[in-house]
Amino acid sequence: MNTPNLDPRDWEDFRKTSHKALDLILDQLRELSSQPAWRPIPTEMIKTISEEPLPLTGIGEARTLDRFQEQVLPYPNGSWHPRFWGWVQGTGIPWAMIADMLASGMNAHLAGFNQAPKWVEHKVVSWIAEMLGWPSTSQGLLSSGATMSNILALCVARNEISNRNVRSEGLQNPDGVLTVYCSDQTHGWIDKGIELLGIGTDNLRKIATDSEGRIRVDSLRTAIDKDLRQGNIPVCVCGNAGAVHFGATDDLNQLADICKEYGLWFHVDGAFGAFAYLVPEMRADLHGMERADSLAVDLHKWMYLPFDIGCLLCQKTDVLERTFAHSQTYMKKTDRGLLAGGVPFADMGVELSRPFRALKAWMCIQAYGVNAFSDCIRSNIEHARLLARLVSSHDRFELMAPVPLNIVCFRYRPTIYEESNLFEESIIDAFNNELLLRLQESGQAVLSSTMIHGKFCLRAAFTNHRTQNSDVELFFPTIVKLAESLEKQPGN
Ligand SMILES: Cc1ncc(COP(=O)(O)O)c(C=O)c1O
Repeated sequence: MNTPNLDPRDWEDFRKTSHKALDLILDQLRELSSQPAWRPIPTEMIKTISEEPLPLTGIGEARTLDRFQEQVLPYPNGSWHPRFWGWVQGTGIPWAMIADMLASGMNAHLAGFNQAPKWVEHKVVSWIAEMLGWPSTSQGLLSSGATMSNILALCVARNEISNRNVRSEGLQNPDGVLTVYCSDQTHGWIDKGIELLGIGTDNLRKIATDSEGRIRVDSLRTAIDKDLRQGNIPVCVCGNAGAVHFGATDDLNQLADICKEYGLWFHVDGAFGAFAYLVPEMRADLHGMERADSLAVDLHKWMYLPFDIGCLLCQKTDVLERTFAHSQTYMKKTDRGLLAGGVPFADMGVELSRPFRALKAWMCIQAYGVNAFSDCIRSNIEHARLLARLVSSHDRFELMAPVPLNIVCFRYRPTIYEESNLFEESIIDAFNNELLLRLQESGQAVLSSTMIHGKFCLRAAFTNHRTQNSDVELFFPTIVKLAESLEKQPGN
């Protein structure tokens, strides 16, 4: 009897199945544009997946590949498709997929350790900093995404700025409530973070924005002054470099001035928008980003890498360790051997076991060069402008927000409601919601939605290196047709 082992019994056979798996996914990637952008998963398939009993004995690799091909591969959320503009989800890069496979094969543990992968992560972090106009000596680490990077930054801000030792005392110290400031455009990560960090959403000040979606600096100042008068302890201002709804960027320079004046931590959520810095003509809008104490970005958004890979950068060295480092007796730093250098990434964040996320960035940045990414980002900005022009030139469609970056928010105004005096916002909302669902179900393209000034909008976000101008040009008549046919249906 064989001793227990989960390696292949027959490596040659395994090699054949593995090559078949690789061919399967490469064929799929090559043929994406002829496939629907999304297709609903049939109820029968959900039943098949959900009712599969726990296998006590295996069926072999080849049969699981067949099941993957039949049950899983045809039904993704569609973010890899050239006409997926639903959310800011990067499209994935085939070479990064190979890098992920290699990283998974190595199975390196990225707490740190004396190993090459650690130096690859340090290098990738310093390249990201350099790409965004930050010193290449900036401290940082890769994360699962911008939610995690932003929350880590907020945790550091809380510990560094509050006048208490949060690590040992917690937040039980009664002298003063900690307060945090952001705009009404800030992504929902901040609510989760504020709750998790014990600050409480009552103490999060969501400041109103101007017509361009930028935080109103006068209102921010008023809010901070009011908190100070009430004995509260302002901790941090979170600025947006490309906010989620339509891509608004705050006046980061003014935010940096205010934080300096009041002694607050200045954090920037640049999840996708920070990468507009790679396009020289967009840099002026990001002026001041280089003055932030911390910056969160995602490489699985506008750097097109597959999930997951986010990054947190901090301007000052040691701040991350001051918040997160813990000495583990079984992982003590040594002068020589495998623990030489210790576990720097475990000491800079909350995860101890961490995957080798850096490899895909390291291999893709070297394979294609930063200029290739800049070109794709520039082209996505052009796609947004093209769609905005098409929307503006149609008499029933209207733009619902400015288009400063790569996101277009718009809606259709059906004639019938105006003609019959039933013109009501809620009916237009419902019409556009139905239009969105029909578009998704048609498989022609994927858009998402958001609310702008209380009105439902269709939302196209371009973080897609596969999109061509012709995709946008073909999409527009499709949505016009869907809207017109929806209008003609009884009940609409
Ligand atoms: C501006 C912004 N911040 C944060 C996030 C959260 O990022 P993640 O999904 O990587 O956690 C998003 C997601 O779309 C975002 O657009």
